[in-house]
Formats: sequence, C-alpha cells, structure tokens
Amino acid sequence: MNPMIEIKNLSFAYTKDNMVVDNVNLTINKGEWVTILGHNGSGKSTLSKLMIGLLRAKTGTIKIDGLTLSEETVYDIRKKVGIVFQNPDNQFVGVTVRDDIAFGLENLQIPRETMIEKIDKYAKKVNMQEFMNKEPQQLSGGQKQRVAIAGILAMETDVIIFDEATAMLDPKGRKNIYEYMKELNREGVTIITITHDMKEAVDADRIIVLKDGRILRNDTAQNILKDQETLEQSNLELLLPLDVLYSLEKENVNHDALKEYLWQSSLKG
Ligand SMILES: Nc1ncnc2c1ncn2[C@@H]1O[C@H](COP(=O)(O)OP(=O)(O)OP(=O)(O)O)[C@@H](O)[C@H]1O
Ligand SMILES: [Mg+2]
Repeated sequence: MNPMIEIKNLSFAYTKDNMVVDNVNLTINKGEWVTILGHNGSGKSTLSKLMIGLLRAKTGTIKIDGLTLSEETVYDIRKKVGIVFQNPDNQFVGVTVRDDIAFGLENLQIPRETMIEKIDKYAKKVNMQEFMNKEPQQLSGGQKQRVAIAGILAMETDVIIFDEATAMLDPKGRKNIYEYMKELNREGVTIITITHDMKEAVDADRIIVLKDGRILRNDTAQNILKDQETLEQSNLELLLPLDVLYSLEKENVNHDALKEYLWQSSLKG
C-alpha cells in the first residue's frame, strides 16, 4: 500500500457547536479511484476543501504524498491536488475562457509554449475550443463546468477531486468526461469523485459514505452499492437493476407486472 492521502482524526466546524467533519480517518492510496457519497450537507465538499487547505482543520492532520498540510506546504500541495468545485462560479478568475484555463498553469510557471499547448489540448478535451475568447460569465452552467474541468486537467496534478463536477453536463459530455477520468486513473492519477449519481460510483475502487460529517461506510463499490440499508440512510438510491432484482426476490412477479414495474422505475430515474 502506497498512501497518497492520509487523514487522521480530522474535525472541522464552521460554527462553534456544529461539527461538519467529525473525527474522520481515511487513507487513499496512489492510483486509487475513490467515490464519496452522502446526503446533502453530510460534509463532502467541506472535506474536499480541507484536503487542499482551503479550510483549516480544527483538529487532526492531512498528509498528501508524505507532506503534512500546513500554511508552509499548502502551495506545494496544490501542485499535487486539483479540485473542480461543485459550483463552477467559484472557480472563475479570468476575463476570458482562455485566461481561466491558463490560471492554474501560470502559477506553475511553465514555459509559455507548453502552456499554450496544454490550454488547447484540454479545451478540446472538454469541447470548449470554440469559446476561448468568451467571458466565462456569459457561459451556460454546463459550459462553465467544462471550463472549470479543463483548468484543473491542464494542471496535470497527481490527484484530482471532482466535486459533482459534471452534474450540469449533458449526457454525452458527462460520459466523455467520465471516460477521460477512467483513462487518467489508468495512467496512475488518483481520482476522488463526489456524486449523487450511483451510476458514477460503479467503477470506483472504493466508496466512502459520509453521514453528518462522519464516515458511515468505507468499502468496495460492490458492497456499498448492493447495501440497501446504507443507501437509504444516506438518501441514496439503489441502481435500477438491483432495485428490480430485490423487488423480484420479494414476490413472485409475472411478465406483465415486471414490465409495469420497470416502466415505473424508469420514470423514477
Ligand atoms: N461557508 C459555510 N458556512 C457555514 N456553514 C457551512 C458553510 N458551507 C457549508 N456549511 C454547512 O456545512 C455542512 C456541510 O456542507 P457541505 O457543503 O460540506 O455538504 P455536502 O456534503 O457537500 O452537501 P451537498 O451534497 O449539498 O453538496 C452543511 O450543513 C452546510 O450547511
Ligand atoms: Mg457539496
């Protein structure tokens, strides 16, 4: 085991009496794909902001690739960990889309030519190459998310956290980015995804379920996604095929009843 992220006894609160991250212990290995699930307000985004030093822990430690996160190391750590925020508006700093994708790279001080190559490469990856001179504020929600993703991909960090980063993308765009995440992961990039879409958790090596700031479960995707009770506790849904399977097991369903059930289930999404 080769840890990339080691979190020990991590706690955080925005206000005095309300622990939002409550004594979290978690190790994520190099090259792993980990998906964090949990109800609204369970602390997923807060935990990811703690991991890149955007928020300061109340207690506990975070180590990234052997380096303990502190005020002194935070800039080095941000060269290793990139995050695509849940709300893309929080990520925009540039006047144009091009500036925005370039922003992280400028901080890395790489040669101008390499920078231009990377910007073009990742703008194409997210299919935004035709919007390079537009103002980010004039983009649609999904387009903003695409630009935010490109900006983080361009930094080519060892770890990327996608905090519901494709929630606003159309199905094809979502699929493309998802396939690219898998490709990056095969190349050795450690991927952390936060999602409410169970289909996007299937390929994870491991799933962490957060509930009220604590780790409720830390197990394989297989074990978590089949566990109706855990999912229910966290306002999560069973994958449709499992939902159907469990219902079939409960009663003796005939062909017409099954057809009707599948139809109704597909309406539920
Ligand atoms: N800036 C803030 N100031 C005060 N409280 C906050 C702040 N941001 C989040 N919180 C609170 O912290 C808790 C955890 O929020 P967080 O954004 O981490 O949840 P989440 O699991 O990412 O939820 P979601 O699924 O809705 O994205 C919530 O109860 C929220 O109200
Ligand atoms: Mg969130």
